[in-house]
Formats: sequence, C-alpha cells, structure tokens
Amino acid sequence: MLGQEEKKWAEEILEHVAEKMETVMERCKYKIPYKAVKGVFDDRSGDDKICWWTNGFWGGTMWQMYQLTGKEEYRKQAEWVEEKLDKVLMNAEGLDHDNGFKWLPTSVANYRKTGSAASRNRALLAANNMAGRYNPVGRFIRAWNDWDEDDHRGWAIIDCMMNLPLLYWAYEETKDPRFCQIATAHADTVIDAFIRGDGSVCHIVGFDPETGERLRSYAGQGYARGSSWTRGQSWAVYGFALSYIHTKEQKYLDAAKRVANYFLANLPDSGLVLLDFRQPEDCEWEDSIAAAVTACGLIEIARCCEGRDKKVYLGAAMKMLRTLAEQRCSWDAKVDYFLENCSVAYHCDEIELPIVYGDYYFIEALMKLADKELFIW
Ligand code: GLY
Repeated sequence: MLGQEEKKWAEEILEHVAEKMETVMERCKYKIPYKAVKGVFDDRSGDDKICWWTNGFWGGTMWQMYQLTGKEEYRKQAEWVEEKLDKVLMNAEGLDHDNGFKWLPTSVANYRKTGSAASRNRALLAANNMAGRYNPVGRFIRAWNDWDEDDHRGWAIIDCMMNLPLLYWAYEETKDPRFCQIATAHADTVIDAFIRGDGSVCHIVGFDPETGERLRSYAGQGYARGSSWTRGQSWAVYGFALSYIHTKEQKYLDAAKRVANYFLANLPDSGLVLLDFRQPEDCEWEDSIAAAVTACGLIEIARCCEGRDKKVYLGAAMKMLRTLAEQRCSWDAKVDYFLENCSVAYHCDEIELPIVYGDYYFIEALMKLADKELFIW
C-alpha cells in the first residue's frame, strides 16, 4: 500500500495525461513512434525499422491508457503494434535479448488483460528465443547479435535485467523451470560481474564465450569505461526489484537497494538526472528516462519495505516524478511527446530529445502510484 497523498497527486497528473493522450493517439494512429522531431513522433513500423528494440513501448503505452480509460481505440492501436511485431518473430537477426522490451509491453500485456491465445503464443516464442541466448558456461544471456566486424558472442549488458521478466512470465505460464533457472543465473552473474563496490554498475561486460571468464567492461552508452551511465543504473534498480517480485529471493531485493542507494546518493538536489553520474563537471546533459525508470523501480522497492525505508524510496520516487511533471514535461497537446531531455548515449548526437519510452515509464510510474497499473513486467 502506497501513500494517499501520492495517489491523489498521480490521479491529478493522469487526468492531464489522459486529456493530452487522446489527441496524441489520434495523430499517431498506425505508427510505432521512437523519437519526436519538432514535436512530431517518427514511425518505426516499416520493414526497415520494425526490429528496433523500443518498438514495444508504444503498444505498452496504449495498454496503460486502455487500462486507465477503457477506451477501445487504445486497445486497437496496441493490438495493431503487436501484430506488426510478428515480422520480427520471423527474423532471426531481428531477435535478441530485447525480446523482453518488445513482447512484454505488447503480447504479455495483452495476454494479462484479455487472455488472448495468440498473444500467449507470441510471447512464448519470444521467451524461447531469448532463453536460447543463454551461455551456460558464463551463466549470462548474450545481449546483441554481431554487426559489422564486431564479435558480440560474449557480451552481456545491464539493460537485460529488464528483459528477464519475459522468462519469469514464461516460467509462471508453463511451469518449465528452465526459464526461471536461466533468468536467475543471469541475475546472479550481474550481481557478481556488473555491480561495483560502491553500488554503481557497468553497462557492458565482455566474457569469453568459450570459457565464461569475465574479460572486461566497456563504456557502452555512458561517458567512459568505469563511469556511471544513469539509465544503466535505472535498468538495474528496476530490474533487480522485478527479479525480487518474481522470485522472492532476498538477494535480489538487497541488490535493488544497493544500486538504488548509489543512485540516490548521487541524485542532485534539483531532482534532475544527468546522463552519466561521472560525466565531466562542465557537462549538464540529462536523461529524463533514467529518472522515470528509476522512479518505477523505487516505487516497487518501497512496496517491499516498511517504516523509514519505505518513506525514503517512495519520497525519492516522488521527488523525481514531481520534477519531471513540473520541469521536464510538455503538457501542450500540439506536440506528440510528454518528457523532454531524454538522451540516447553520451557519445552520440541524440542528446536531450523526446523519446517514446521516457513517456512510457513516466505513465507507468503514475499508474503505480494511482494503484491502476496494468502490470507488464
Ligand atoms: N537499452 C538501450 C538503452 O537503454 O538505450
């Protein structure tokens, strides 16, 4: 049970979300947005972009809006996105560890809400494919396929903590323990090989794919090797909380708190989240997605605690969400997005722009506080 004051605040913000989203959804019908340029969402539903890793989030947003409002058009749009993703299920190179990000907010959401047999089938195909990426010697799930000349056979990334729930779902659905065994083996490897002594995490760790030996870390989307990419930290906070929710293993709640405590110790008083906690001092680049994802994770951690801990984690989530709502959100219905200042990676030119899954996690966090969420992960 979360607080009444927080619930009331979230309900009020969700009224604004619902009002604006009605217009946005009309404009974005039959698109799969990723980022907004000059206020207009692009479309990744074409064959050349359909495998993009974020392509499940618009469907997830539509499901949360359906859950909130009961309006059939949201469900119709969510189902359209889900069907579009069938092309990905038939493309071996388009499938990777991000099967979770693609089919949890679409097919699993649909199955949980409606019991659709077709959605269950899709999600099980995606889960089986993801389980097939497990390296049993290194006890990790391989992240990406190879591209260009790069060899990614031994690469695992922190983001995968958010994909594990697809395997937990498949276990809960089929009772085949392999799904859960693979998910927990990977989570245990992340505890050992990704979390540093101070609670910060690496983005990418490379293992020898033949022997399983941990070779080295990589900067990935953060500032530098050894730095602290905030979105990676947010995937760890929420991902470990979810591993705890699905398994009830105390070590995952402990890990979630450890990475969350590091996040909170480095959160500026402003409540605005930088792109990398260790970026140069004269760089002020932010990532609002990291704030929204972390808020979701903190709310789940707060739900598992009592007393002071509950107050601290919920209070920190509220601080970040209020800051987003008041300072980093556009309530103008003429633009397609909500959150501003979302950043892809430190070393790229996509810095501080609107990105669709920032909106998704912001809305999900509000739905949690309002006790209305469709549980997707
Ligand atoms: N999963 C890739 C990212 O967070 O940008």
